[in-house]
Amino acid sequence: MTRPLTIAIDGPAAAGKGTLAKRVAARYRLPYLDTGLLYRAVGRQILAGGVDPDDPQAAARVARGLDVADLDDPTLRGHEAGELASRIAVHAPVREALVAFQRGFAARPEGAVLDGRDIGTVICPHARVKIFVTASAEVRARRRTDELVAHGRRDVEYGRILAEVKARDERDSGRDVAPLKPADDAHLLDTSQLDIDAAFRAACDVVDRVLAAQDGH
Ligand code: CDP
Ligand code: CDP
Repeated sequence: MTRPLTIAIDGPAAAGKGTLAKRVAARYRLPYLDTGLLYRAVGRQILAGGVDPDDPQAAARVARGLDVADLDDPTLRGHEAGELASRIAVHAPVREALVAFQRGFAARPEGAVLDGRDIGTVICPHARVKIFVTASAEVRARRRTDELVAHGRRDVEYGRILAEVKARDERDSGRDVAPLKPADDAHLLDTSQLDIDAAFRAACDVVDRVLAAQDGH
Protein backbone atom coordinates (compact mmCIF):
# COMPACT_ATOMS: atom_id res chain seq x y z
CA MET A 1 0.00 0.00 0.00
CA THR A 2 1.32 3.47 -0.82
CA ARG A 3 1.93 5.76 2.13
CA PRO A 4 -0.37 8.81 2.30
CA LEU A 5 1.24 11.85 0.72
CA THR A 6 1.13 14.35 3.57
CA ILE A 7 2.77 17.66 2.66
CA ALA A 8 3.54 20.21 5.37
CA ILE A 9 4.16 23.79 4.25
CA ASP A 10 5.24 26.26 6.93
CA GLY A 11 6.72 29.72 7.00
CA PRO A 12 6.27 33.32 8.09
CA ALA A 13 3.49 35.72 7.09
CA ALA A 14 3.21 36.49 3.36
CA ALA A 15 6.00 34.10 2.37
CA GLY A 16 3.68 32.63 -0.25
CA LYS A 17 2.63 29.49 1.68
CA GLY A 18 -1.04 29.65 0.80
CA THR A 19 -0.53 30.32 -2.90
CA LEU A 20 1.99 27.51 -3.09
CA ALA A 21 0.03 25.04 -0.97
CA LYS A 22 -3.10 25.49 -3.07
CA ARG A 23 -1.23 24.81 -6.31
CA VAL A 24 0.69 21.88 -4.88
CA ALA A 25 -2.59 20.37 -3.62
CA ALA A 26 -4.14 20.71 -7.09
CA ARG A 27 -1.05 19.25 -8.79
CA TYR A 28 -1.01 16.12 -6.58
CA ARG A 29 -4.82 15.95 -6.26
CA LEU A 30 -4.84 16.29 -2.51
CA PRO A 31 -7.20 18.10 -0.15
CA TYR A 32 -5.82 21.34 1.28
CA LEU A 33 -6.19 22.97 4.70
CA ASP A 34 -5.06 26.52 5.44
CA THR A 35 -4.56 26.16 9.20
CA GLY A 36 -4.14 29.92 9.65
CA LEU A 37 -7.88 30.17 9.01
CA LEU A 38 -8.55 28.24 12.22
CA TYR A 39 -6.65 30.79 14.30
CA ARG A 40 -8.23 33.63 12.35
CA ALA A 41 -11.75 32.25 12.94
CA VAL A 42 -11.09 31.82 16.67
CA GLY A 43 -9.77 35.39 16.83
CA ARG A 44 -12.85 36.72 15.16
CA GLN A 45 -15.25 34.80 17.39
CA ILE A 46 -13.35 36.08 20.41
CA LEU A 47 -13.80 39.63 19.17
CA ALA A 48 -17.48 39.08 18.37
CA GLY A 49 -18.13 37.55 21.79
CA GLY A 50 -16.39 40.31 23.73
CA VAL A 51 -13.90 37.76 25.13
CA ASP A 52 -10.47 38.92 26.32
CA PRO A 53 -7.96 37.69 23.67
CA ASP A 54 -5.17 37.71 26.23
CA ASP A 55 -7.00 35.30 28.59
CA PRO A 56 -5.76 31.82 27.54
CA GLN A 57 -8.59 29.83 29.12
CA ALA A 58 -11.37 32.07 27.83
CA ALA A 59 -9.79 32.02 24.35
CA ALA A 60 -9.47 28.23 24.51
CA ARG A 61 -13.19 27.87 25.28
CA VAL A 62 -13.92 29.72 22.05
CA ALA A 63 -11.41 27.53 20.18
CA ARG A 64 -13.04 24.34 21.51
CA GLY A 65 -16.43 25.55 20.26
CA LEU A 66 -15.16 26.60 16.83
CA ASP A 67 -17.50 25.78 13.98
CA VAL A 68 -15.24 24.86 11.06
CA ALA A 69 -18.11 25.59 8.66
CA ASP A 70 -17.24 29.28 9.26
CA LEU A 71 -13.81 28.93 7.63
CA ASP A 72 -15.16 29.74 4.17
CA ASP A 73 -15.76 33.39 5.01
CA PRO A 74 -13.44 35.49 2.76
CA THR A 75 -13.20 38.34 5.31
CA LEU A 76 -11.16 36.00 7.52
CA ARG A 77 -8.25 36.41 5.12
CA GLY A 78 -7.84 40.10 5.91
CA HIS A 79 -4.72 41.62 7.36
CA GLU A 80 -6.29 42.60 10.71
CA ALA A 81 -7.69 39.10 11.27
CA GLY A 82 -4.12 37.82 10.85
CA GLU A 83 -2.83 40.14 13.56
CA LEU A 84 -5.49 38.99 16.02
CA ALA A 85 -4.88 35.35 15.08
CA SER A 86 -1.22 35.71 15.92
CA ARG A 87 -2.11 37.21 19.31
CA ILE A 88 -4.38 34.31 20.37
CA ALA A 89 -2.08 31.68 18.78
CA VAL A 90 0.45 32.16 21.60
CA HIS A 91 -1.88 30.42 24.08
CA ALA A 92 -1.10 26.72 24.56
CA PRO A 93 -4.72 25.73 25.38
CA VAL A 94 -5.94 27.45 22.20
CA ARG A 95 -3.42 25.49 20.12
CA GLU A 96 -4.32 22.22 21.85
CA ALA A 97 -7.99 22.76 21.08
CA LEU A 98 -7.18 22.92 17.35
CA VAL A 99 -4.83 19.93 17.11
CA ALA A 100 -7.41 17.14 16.68
CA PHE A 101 -9.14 18.79 13.74
CA GLN A 102 -5.84 19.41 11.92
CA ARG A 103 -4.53 15.87 12.53
CA GLY A 104 -7.89 14.43 11.47
CA PHE A 105 -7.66 16.36 8.22
CA ALA A 106 -4.06 15.24 7.66
CA ALA A 107 -4.94 11.58 8.27
CA ARG A 108 -6.90 11.11 5.04
CA PRO A 109 -5.90 7.91 3.26
CA GLU A 110 -4.58 9.68 0.16
CA GLY A 111 -2.76 12.36 2.18
CA ALA A 112 -3.26 16.13 2.37
CA VAL A 113 -1.52 19.48 2.09
CA LEU A 114 -1.58 21.67 5.21
CA ASP A 115 0.02 25.07 5.57
CA GLY A 116 0.74 27.05 8.72
CA ARG A 117 3.52 27.57 11.24
CA ASP A 118 3.86 24.27 13.11
CA ILE A 119 2.68 21.65 10.62
CA GLY A 120 6.06 20.00 10.12
CA THR A 121 7.10 20.33 13.76
CA VAL A 122 3.94 19.65 15.81
CA ILE A 123 0.85 18.75 13.79
CA CYS A 124 2.40 16.33 11.26
CA PRO A 125 5.93 15.54 12.44
CA HIS A 126 5.89 12.45 10.20
CA ALA A 127 4.76 14.25 7.04
CA ARG A 128 6.39 12.74 3.96
CA VAL A 129 7.30 16.14 2.57
CA LYS A 130 8.06 19.28 4.60
CA ILE A 131 8.71 22.61 2.94
CA PHE A 132 9.62 25.74 4.87
CA VAL A 133 8.88 28.77 2.71
CA THR A 134 10.69 32.01 3.48
CA ALA A 135 11.37 35.39 1.92
CA SER A 136 12.95 38.53 3.34
CA ALA A 137 10.70 40.68 5.53
CA GLU A 138 10.98 43.47 2.94
CA VAL A 139 9.80 41.25 0.08
CA ARG A 140 6.94 39.89 2.19
CA ALA A 141 5.85 43.36 3.26
CA ARG A 142 5.92 44.49 -0.37
CA ARG A 143 3.75 41.52 -1.39
CA ARG A 144 1.27 42.19 1.40
CA THR A 145 1.13 45.89 0.52
CA ASP A 146 0.53 45.14 -3.18
CA GLU A 147 -2.13 42.61 -2.24
CA LEU A 148 -3.99 45.11 -0.06
CA VAL A 149 -3.79 47.81 -2.74
CA ALA A 150 -5.07 45.30 -5.32
CA HIS A 151 -8.03 44.69 -3.03
CA GLY A 152 -8.86 48.38 -3.14
CA ARG A 153 -7.36 49.47 0.17
CA ARG A 154 -6.13 53.08 -0.01
CA ASP A 155 -4.82 53.48 3.52
CA VAL A 156 -1.88 51.08 3.21
CA GLU A 157 1.62 52.22 3.81
CA TYR A 158 4.60 49.95 3.11
CA GLY A 159 6.54 51.12 6.19
CA ARG A 160 3.70 50.24 8.54
CA ILE A 161 3.13 46.84 6.91
CA LEU A 162 6.87 46.10 7.18
CA ALA A 163 6.81 46.92 10.90
CA GLU A 164 3.77 44.66 11.37
CA VAL A 165 5.36 41.80 9.42
CA LYS A 166 8.47 42.04 11.60
CA ALA A 167 6.40 42.20 14.80
CA ARG A 168 4.42 39.13 13.71
CA ASP A 169 7.64 37.25 12.88
CA GLU A 170 8.93 38.02 16.32
CA ARG A 171 5.75 36.94 18.07
CA ASP A 172 5.37 33.75 16.00
CA SER A 173 9.03 32.77 16.35
CA GLY A 174 9.48 33.83 19.96
CA ARG A 175 6.45 32.16 21.57
CA ASP A 176 6.96 29.26 23.97
CA VAL A 177 4.52 26.84 22.34
CA ALA A 178 4.97 25.63 18.77
CA PRO A 179 7.18 28.54 17.68
CA LEU A 180 7.69 29.15 13.99
CA LYS A 181 10.83 27.28 12.98
CA PRO A 182 11.77 24.83 10.24
CA ALA A 183 11.58 21.14 11.15
CA ASP A 184 15.01 19.48 11.06
CA ASP A 185 13.99 17.56 7.94
CA ALA A 186 12.26 20.48 6.17
CA HIS A 187 13.37 21.66 2.71
CA LEU A 188 13.99 25.40 2.78
CA LEU A 189 12.50 27.37 -0.08
CA ASP A 190 13.48 31.04 -0.19
CA THR A 191 11.06 32.81 -2.54
CA SER A 192 12.62 36.29 -2.21
CA GLN A 193 13.77 36.10 -5.83
CA LEU A 194 11.10 33.70 -7.12
CA ASP A 195 7.77 34.51 -8.67
CA ILE A 196 4.81 32.25 -8.01
CA ASP A 197 5.47 29.95 -10.96
CA ALA A 198 9.15 29.52 -10.09
CA ALA A 199 8.29 28.81 -6.43
CA PHE A 200 5.71 26.25 -7.56
CA ARG A 201 8.22 24.48 -9.80
CA ALA A 202 10.78 24.40 -6.97
CA ALA A 203 8.20 22.95 -4.57
CA CYS A 204 7.16 20.26 -7.08
CA ASP A 205 10.84 19.36 -7.55
CA VAL A 206 11.09 18.80 -3.80
CA VAL A 207 7.94 16.64 -3.72
CA ASP A 208 8.99 14.62 -6.77
CA ARG A 209 12.48 14.03 -5.37
CA VAL A 210 11.11 12.83 -2.03
CA LEU A 211 8.62 10.56 -3.77
CA ALA A 212 11.29 9.11 -6.07
CA ALA A 213 13.71 8.53 -3.17
CA GLN A 214 11.07 6.87 -1.02
CA ASP A 215 9.88 4.70 -3.88
CA GLY A 216 13.43 3.43 -4.20
CA HIS A 217 14.18 4.86 -7.63
O1 CDP B 1 0.06 32.28 2.83
P1 CDP B 1 1.10 33.37 2.97
O2 CDP B 1 0.69 34.47 3.90
O3 CDP B 1 2.45 32.84 3.28
O4 CDP B 1 1.29 34.06 1.54
P2 CDP B 1 0.31 34.16 0.28
O5 CDP B 1 -1.00 34.69 0.73
O6 CDP B 1 0.33 32.88 -0.47
O7 CDP B 1 1.08 35.24 -0.62
C1 CDP B 1 1.12 36.59 -0.25
C2 CDP B 1 1.13 37.44 -1.51
O8 CDP B 1 2.39 37.30 -2.16
C3 CDP B 1 0.08 37.03 -2.53
O9 CDP B 1 -0.49 38.21 -3.07
C4 CDP B 1 0.86 36.29 -3.60
O10 CDP B 1 0.31 36.44 -4.87
C5 CDP B 1 2.23 36.94 -3.52
N1 CDP B 1 3.35 36.04 -3.88
C6 CDP B 1 4.29 36.46 -4.75
O11 CDP B 1 4.21 37.58 -5.23
N2 CDP B 1 5.36 35.66 -5.10
C7 CDP B 1 5.49 34.44 -4.56
N3 CDP B 1 6.52 33.66 -4.89
C8 CDP B 1 4.52 34.00 -3.65
C9 CDP B 1 3.45 34.83 -3.31
O1 CDP C 1 -1.27 34.26 5.74
P1 CDP C 1 -0.44 34.64 6.92
O2 CDP C 1 0.86 33.90 6.97
O3 CDP C 1 -0.31 36.11 7.11
O4 CDP C 1 -1.25 34.19 8.21
P2 CDP C 1 -1.92 32.82 8.56
O5 CDP C 1 -1.12 31.67 8.05
O6 CDP C 1 -3.35 32.87 8.22
O7 CDP C 1 -1.76 32.80 10.16
C1 CDP C 1 -2.22 33.85 10.98
C2 CDP C 1 -1.58 33.67 12.35
O8 CDP C 1 -2.08 32.45 12.94
C3 CDP C 1 -0.07 33.51 12.33
O9 CDP C 1 0.64 34.74 12.46
C4 CDP C 1 0.21 32.59 13.50
O10 CDP C 1 0.41 33.30 14.70
C5 CDP C 1 -1.06 31.79 13.65
N1 CDP C 1 -0.89 30.42 13.16
C6 CDP C 1 -0.26 29.51 13.98
O11 CDP C 1 0.18 29.87 15.06
N2 CDP C 1 -0.12 28.21 13.61
C7 CDP C 1 -0.57 27.79 12.42
N3 CDP C 1 -0.45 26.51 12.09
C8 CDP C 1 -1.20 28.71 11.54
C9 CDP C 1 -1.33 30.03 11.93
